[in-house]
Amino acid sequence: MTDAHIAGAIGRARFEDALRVRELARAILPGAGEPRLSETWVARDAEGRVIGWLEERRVASELYVLGVGVDPAWRRCGVATALVRECLARASLVHLEVRASNAAARRLYAGLGFDEVGLRARYYSDGDDAVLLTRAAA
Ligand SMILES: CC(C)(COP(=O)(O)OP(=O)(O)OC[C@H]1O[C@@H](n2cnc3c(N)ncnc32)[C@H](O)[C@@H]1OP(=O)(O)O)[C@@H](O)C(=O)NCCC(=O)NCCS
Repeated sequence: MTDAHIAGAIGRARFEDALRVRELARAILPGAGEPRLSETWVARDAEGRVIGWLEERRVASELYVLGVGVDPAWRRCGVATALVRECLARASLVHLEVRASNAAARRLYAGLGFDEVGLRARYYSDGDDAVLLTRAAA
C-alpha cells in the first residue's frame, strides 16, 4: 500500500480522537508528552480509526514537528509520509529533530527531502544525539 491509499484520510484531530491519540502516543513515544489535540493531525483507516498522528507547532508560516507516530500494524504503508506531506503543504519551512539512532525516521525524512542542518550532541537523557532537520516548501 502507498500513501495514495490513505491520503484522503488525513485530517485535523477531533475532540473524540483524544483517547486514541493519547493511547498511541503513550505506547509509541513514551516520555514525549501528551499531544496537544488542537495542533495534531491524524491518519485514519477505512473505518475512521486513528492509525497515526503528527503533532506540530506553528510560528508564522513555519511549522515545527514535535512528534510523529504510526500504529505498528500500519507501518511501511506510507502513513507517516502522508502526514508529513500534509504538513509540508501548509508551511514555508518545516523543522524537526530526530534521534540520531532512529534510522527509520531519518530515512523517512531524507526520502521527503529534509536536510540535516545541525546536531545537538547528547541531547537525550540516554546520551543519544538529536539531529536537526529542515525542509522548505516545494
Ligand atoms: C518512523 C515512523 C513514524 C515511520 O512511519 P511509517 O508510516 O511506517 O513510514 P512510511 O511508511 O511513510 O515510510 C516511508 C519511508 O521511510 C523509511 N522507513 C520507514 N520505516 C522504516 C524502517 N523501519 N526501516 C527503514 N526505513 C524505514 C523508508 O524509506 C520508507 O519507504 P519504503 O517503505 O518505501 O521503503 C514509524 O516507524 C514510527 O511510528 N516509529 C516510532 C515513532 C518514531 O520514531 N517517530 C519519529 C520520530 S518523532
